[in-house]
Amino acid sequence: MNKKIFSGVQPTGNLHLGNYLGAIKNFVQLQSDKKNQCIYCVVDLHSITVKQDPRTLKQNTRETTAAFLASGLDPEKSIIFNQSAVSSHAEGAWILGCVSRMGWLSRMTQFKEKAGKDKEKASVGLYVYPVLMAADILLYDATHVPVGEDQKQHLELCRDIAQKFNNDFNSRNFLKVPEPLIQKEFARIMSLKNGLNKMSKSDPSDFSRINLTDDKDLIINKIKKAKTDTLPMPGKKDNLEKRPEVLNLLGIYSSLSNQNLDEVKSNFEGKNFSSFKENLSELLIDKILPIGKKIKDLLKDEKHLDNILKKGAEKADNLATKKINEMKKLVGF
Ligand code: AMP
Ligand code: TRP
Repeated sequence: MNKKIFSGVQPTGNLHLGNYLGAIKNFVQLQSDKKNQCIYCVVDLHSITVKQDPRTLKQNTRETTAAFLASGLDPEKSIIFNQSAVSSHAEGAWILGCVSRMGWLSRMTQFKEKAGKDKEKASVGLYVYPVLMAADILLYDATHVPVGEDQKQHLELCRDIAQKFNNDFNSRNFLKVPEPLIQKEFARIMSLKNGLNKMSKSDPSDFSRINLTDDKDLIINKIKKAKTDTLPMPGKKDNLEKRPEVLNLLGIYSSLSNQNLDEVKSNFEGKNFSSFKENLSELLIDKILPIGKKIKDLLKDEKHLDNILKKGAEKADNLATKKINEMKKLVGF
């Protein structure tokens, strides 16, 4: 089956190894299959659900675009654009918002986490955020949506919204019910400081993550300081459930080297941690440093980046406008 792929990343700056291994690397792999039609969106409408500085937002949109390109996404093969440039996303979100039920949205765990204790002060946008995400996906008849594990619930909601719209407007199969594509192994890269927390740009400690733009010395230093434990390097048969930090470092190694975990465990069995860490740093320097360099180079030419987004938006707009027009007709507009 030919797949239609859609995914989005928020332009919040400071993209890290978790974003790369959990999302972008997968985007590039999907692009390499010529049968797939891939659409990758910098979701700037989503990012304003929490307060943003307008100038920083614009720069972050460019930075995320640069990270896409530096990682291997190709605007000749995939559609790359920013969400606010295609007005159908906002229109679609309104229509789908009227189909969605309060009860469905109130079950979303990400809202509960992001809103924290004082829900009254969260923006309305943050609450309806998953409806906009559903519009993103459904406007393009996406069949598959590569996301991290944390977005699974939003994908299920998207499926419910699509089905309810089709039912309400007697339009079977009009909105295509998408499948999530979630990596089986290491879908969550954890913090270098605490193997139970996700690697995240909002962690106050920069040593908890490898940023895509970190330089060589910083990478070496961060891996040297990464938390481990006092036990020796595990062997192939050792269970790592109780050693989350060690599992995470081995997982990063496995993901970056495209080897499975057992192979990595066997390779380092009996060695000491410092030599494993040296190897891991070398691998990171080999794979991540060139991406960081390219991001920095691309950011020097803002016009070039803006132009790629503009061309991508034109292609996306063509597809989305057709769908939103049909949607409006069904609704009675
Ligand atoms: P965000 O920056 O939170 O918008 O995430 C962008 C993409 O990266 C989403 O698909 C996330 O699921 C993924 N992602 C973010 N942090 C991690 C992590 N620590 N491990 C794996 N994937 C992640
Ligand atoms: N909500 C996603 C995140 O925070 C980003 C996103 C927005 C998205 N729209 C999407 C992902 C559509 C996949 C498909 O990571």
